[in-house]
Amino acid sequence: MNVQVDRPIGMFDSGFGGLTVARALIDKMPNENLVYIGDTGRYPYGNKSASDVRNFALEIANSLVNDFDVKMIVVACNTAASVALLELQSSLSVPVIGVVEPGARALVRATENNCVAVIGTVGTIASGAYKNAVAGASKEINRKVSLTATACPGFVEFVERDETSGKAVTELAEKLLAPIRDAGVDALLLGCTHYPYLSAVIGQVMGSDVKLINSADATASVVREALAQNKIARSVQSGMPDSPRFFGSHEFYSSGDIRHFAELGRRFLGPELSVAKQWPK
Ligand code: DGL
Repeated sequence: MNVQVDRPIGMFDSGFGGLTVARALIDKMPNENLVYIGDTGRYPYGNKSASDVRNFALEIANSLVNDFDVKMIVVACNTAASVALLELQSSLSVPVIGVVEPGARALVRATENNCVAVIGTVGTIASGAYKNAVAGASKEINRKVSLTATACPGFVEFVERDETSGKAVTELAEKLLAPIRDAGVDALLLGCTHYPYLSAVIGQVMGSDVKLINSADATASVVREALAQNKIARSVQSGMPDSPRFFGSHEFYSSGDIRHFAELGRRFLGPELSVAKQWPK
């Protein structure tokens, strides 16, 4: 048995939202072991200073390496990835993947009229990370793409209240998305873990001609490629050779109320989340 491949993938977010990325990862790589930390005790990150978010991210990532012996880290939170990815990549001994670059690449590939938009938290948009990532992704495929980047304060709170449809959230979406509609974009990246849950409202406001891009799937694909490149993917052969299908273990930790995390998290993620444990351990 190859011990290296059996080490879990570590993933973290400010809370529940990153479970959208965990879902995509489990669906694409059901045999990988996963440890997820949701920092619900210090949530939300979106309106905190970049230096606070950076410190939280470093603390959690170091814990994933030292306490859980992870083989790779996925920064599932857009806000944390926007302000801390480079520092995490340079200070940790394992590969670190964020949600920003995979999402930006998927966005640039999706546009036909070269006019795109990204929405995210105040912290994410203020960091300029998507502006840089979209510029980088456009250059990669030799395209000139214009970007409108807009913060959507309030969206996360609606999702946390499980209010993903109705008059109030639709009115807010109409107000916040107006500049993007005016810009004539044909692709919009949901640059926040929570926004996929508002896809119906956002899609209705933007119209059916605008493609909504969710970075969760794009990130899971990049994780799969990186595991293969680093030769640390947990394949059938490396796990239980007699079994044609086998599943990894999935552990969930929260820095806040673990019962609430398990209850709400299960609604976000699905049946793999039945128990949440306390972090720090
Ligand atoms: N996870 C955060 C993000 O993707 C959204 C929630 C928060 O503000 O902490 O940006």
